[in-house]
Amino acid sequence: MTMNRACNFMLWSLCMLNIIQVAVSDVGVNWGSMASHPLPPDIAVKMLKDNGITKVKLFDADSWTLNSLAGSNIEVMVGIPNNMLDYISDSYDNAKDWVKENITSHLKDFGDKRGVDIRYVSVGNEPFLEAYEGKYDESTFPALQNIQKALDEVGVGDKIKASVALNADVYDGNKPSDDGAQYATTMYAQKFYDGLLKKLAEKKGTPLRPGILNVYLFSLLDEDVKSILPGFFERHWGLFRYDGQAKFPMDLSGQGNDKMLIAAKGVQYMQKQWCVLNDEVRDESLIPSALSYACYHSDCTSLTHGSSCGNLDLRGNASYAFNMYFQMNSQDVEACDFNGLGTIVTRNASRGTCLFPVQIVSQGERVNLAYGVTIFVGFVLSFFMFM
Ligand SMILES: *[C@@H]1O[C@H](CO)[C@@H](O)[C@H](O)[C@H]1NC(C)=O
Ligand SMILES: *[C@@H]1O[C@H](CO)[C@@H](O)[C@H](O)[C@H]1NC(C)=O
Ligand SMILES: *[C@@H]1O[C@H](CO)[C@@H](O)[C@H](O)[C@H]1NC(C)=O
Repeated sequence: MTMNRACNFMLWSLCMLNIIQVAVSDVGVNWGSMASHPLPPDIAVKMLKDNGITKVKLFDADSWTLNSLAGSNIEVMVGIPNNMLDYISDSYDNAKDWVKENITSHLKDFGDKRGVDIRYVSVGNEPFLEAYEGKYDESTFPALQNIQKALDEVGVGDKIKASVALNADVYDGNKPSDDGAQYATTMYAQKFYDGLLKKLAEKKGTPLRPGILNVYLFSLLDEDVKSILPGFFERHWGLFRYDGQAKFPMDLSGQGNDKMLIAAKGVQYMQKQWCVLNDEVRDESLIPSALSYACYHSDCTSLTHGSSCGNLDLRGNASYAFNMYFQMNSQDVEACDFNGLGTIVTRNASRGTCLFPVQIVSQGERVNLAYGVTIFVGFVLSFFMFM
């Protein structure tokens, strides 16, 4: 066991000790944006409020998202992506610049209700994950120190704590396998959240370290461009679908009164049209290459065996893939060509339980940084606990 793993394990065990004692109100959600068409932040914030979610963790400091949280009373954890750790650790000035641009500018006049209620800065995203092979081991701690010092210097260090988000694979044995795919994942996710939330609601005993450990559910929304390196399920961890529709009944208070969460309101969809394989295509030998192309550049994670679209034939697979590619490219006509194999239809192409989605209108189609892999639940330990 390397030093790092030993260290992780120690922190991890502390998480396990603490998790049972966290108050329900401490449950937050991870709000990622690895989506081709992110839900507009103002709509997402309304959805958070409608569902009584009072804490969010962001993976970066996107100002559009932060601005939408201003005046919402939602406690925010702002993230520094792993690929900025070197930059932040290299110089204290860089850390100061980061704090100035990404924290203090959002606080408005300190104490002003219209500002963003930033409580934590998460330095790196699970930087000690084994998959990174120690790449961030040296920069994480100095970056953490620089950020905390910079927060202290501008006088917000008491309110805003720098921390490191750790990966804690709590239910390790139950991780869905790759072939689990969407349907299984939904079932699994529901069970997972049920169990976790009930545990959290038990609140046994007095908290050992009140206010230090926060639990953030992973995650708010499905994200169709998230890395599937750890498995296809990565794109389906949302409490909500890509468009803010609730997926399964749950009770965030852990009382077991499961019901559907309140869906996003005011979501605008693109035109009711789909791209499918043209019925007239007879030569099926042309299909596989177009199909792979479409899948490679879109999201075919629902086509795998056992998931909602796992029973389609080759032609069905092609239609599904073409549509995903077409929708992810904002229904661009040219994205439904496939050497003449594709055609745009206005009749709903969904089949049974297999949904052929229509994309949402999303003003901010932004290219996102790769945040790496985040599994299940992000636990955040404060700077002090880290020491
Ligand atoms: C503020 O955060 C954004 C998003 O994470 C980043 O791109 C930008 O470089 C940061 N600003 C500074 C001055 O570091
Ligand atoms: C459809 O795609 C899935 C996922 O790639 C694959 O497992 C399945 O065999 C395909 N079906 C056909 C008939 O090609
Ligand atoms: C298409 O049909 C599916 C399944 O019947 C349905 O869930 C979906 O809302 C429909 N899509 C549109 C855009 O009407």
